[in-house]
Amino acid sequence: MNAKSNPIVIRPDTKIGNIAAENDDEFLFNCFVDHPALASVLDTTSPQMLVSGRTGSGKTAIIRMVEHQKDHVDKIDLHELALNYIANSDIIRFLNALDIDLDLFFQALWKHVLCIEFIRMRFSVKNADDSRGIFSRIREAFSKNDRKNSAIKYLENWEDKFWITMDTNIREITSKLESQIGASLGLEVEKFKANAGYSRTLSAEKRAEVTSRAKKIVNADQLTELSKVLDLLAEYDQGDKFRQFYILIDRLDEKWVDESIRFSLIRALIECLKSFRKIPSLKIAVAMRADVLERVIQESKDLGFQREKYDDYFLRIVWKKDQLKQLVEKRVNFLYRRKYTSENIHFGDVFSTNVGRREPFDYMVERTLYRPRDIISFVNLCLTQAQGNSQVTARDIRAAEGEYSRIRLQALEEEWRSALPSLAVAVRKFAKHGVRFTLGSVSTKDFVEDLVIDIAGIECPPCDLIANECAAYLKNQTIPHLLRIAKMVTCELYRIGAIGIKTGAQERFIYAYQDTPVVSVEMVDTDTRIHIHPMLHRALNLAEQKV
Ligand SMILES: Nc1ncnc2c1ncn2[C@@H]1O[C@H](COP(=O)(O)OP(=O)(O)O)[C@@H](O)[C@H]1O
Ligand SMILES: [Mg+2]
Repeated sequence: MNAKSNPIVIRPDTKIGNIAAENDDEFLFNCFVDHPALASVLDTTSPQMLVSGRTGSGKTAIIRMVEHQKDHVDKIDLHELALNYIANSDIIRFLNALDIDLDLFFQALWKHVLCIEFIRMRFSVKNADDSRGIFSRIREAFSKNDRKNSAIKYLENWEDKFWITMDTNIREITSKLESQIGASLGLEVEKFKANAGYSRTLSAEKRAEVTSRAKKIVNADQLTELSKVLDLLAEYDQGDKFRQFYILIDRLDEKWVDESIRFSLIRALIECLKSFRKIPSLKIAVAMRADVLERVIQESKDLGFQREKYDDYFLRIVWKKDQLKQLVEKRVNFLYRRKYTSENIHFGDVFSTNVGRREPFDYMVERTLYRPRDIISFVNLCLTQAQGNSQVTARDIRAAEGEYSRIRLQALEEEWRSALPSLAVAVRKFAKHGVRFTLGSVSTKDFVEDLVIDIAGIECPPCDLIANECAAYLKNQTIPHLLRIAKMVTCELYRIGAIGIKTGAQERFIYAYQDTPVVSVEMVDTDTRIHIHPMLHRALNLAEQKV
């Protein structure tokens, strides 16, 4: 069917799906694009367990597809866990006030609950009887193996609890720590509860004594025992190559626990995941927004958390243009088939007129960061614009672009609000220079000082390096600082996708979503050219480019 013979009128509710995979069942499952990330997550032998991607890149889609396709899947809802119980615990706050590193405790906590969760799913444990039965089976299997003694002993403490929910498990583990600390340092905890400034009142000696007693309790022993439990489970499952089990965790970026411990908990989770690779039938997959991961890495640098150590575990979701085209094609086709016709309608049948000299899809995809959510949202806005007609015209696309661009700018600011709040200011300032300009033009004293003053007026976390640099400039104003700030802002705006850069006359413009994801300050200089990403032009009132 060609454009002229497609007489179907676009109605107000015509959409190619919802922009979040949680609410997109019909289109997601009927029009799934087989992204290679799915195969990696399904593969229990692949180390890739941290599914990272920008917001809207399809993390939840992958998680949901695994759930849809496999039988033994356990999806953990962080919101339902007793993690605020930890955040509100007096004992935990007491340890925090003393600067005791809770990382070991948090790692043990995750490792323990994930272990029990695996046992529950693996052996279909439904009640205390099942639980004891399974424990006896495991004990028997290793009765002649002395090296497994400590693992058996560990499991014995939980022998009737393999069926208990993760939530209850978290409470149990935490209250165990609470009672141990209570027994050893009860009096100090009482003083802490009574006096907000408690830790400041301690003499150096007293502090050292309290800290050392607490550290004896929060130590690596439980982690060592748990490692042995994992070895045991791995050995038990050696023969069974055919059954596969999945534990899936999504929505780490949401507010499932108080900020005070959220990043420590995420870091501990990442640290402990590796050890589960020992179990050949189990795959744990954790979906995490790239910016959240970034903040965890930034905040953990002094704790020896190195990105390279984790490279093998990361699965970055990246989309190519033809995959996005396929995504849109499938959805348009499905929409028309379901609603209106048994004929094959293509994207080009509905979006049939060029925008300037660009094909409609090319024009639209150039205004995205190559993420499914961006293009679905743009197409939906175009369809709304064209309601009552049977075609989406170039005019509709341009009209929809205004709204689309505002949504993209807002989403970008939202996405980076927690890790880099200074960027929202920076992007608007940069845009005052037009669509394309050189780094030199944004490193002048006037420009940078204006930026510094505005950034100083907003609250920024320690991980916002631009804000730090601006604060440093306010204290000690030097010329090299000016250039450094301009370079840093350029690199960060590049990283989030707000700009592309061109580092030499012979080079082309590069963008984070399709070229190198980060550039360092050494790579840019005053003659580096900057291009504001086209998706932001309308929102930032930048003149339309000739296309
Ligand atoms: N592989 C895919 N096939 C089809 N649709 C997809 C695919 N990946 C993502 N989508 C769609 O793109 C949108 C954004 O994906 P989502 O999983 O919600 O992103 P994220 O969780 O990374 O923020 C949703 O509408 C989702 O259904
Ligand atoms: Mg999601």
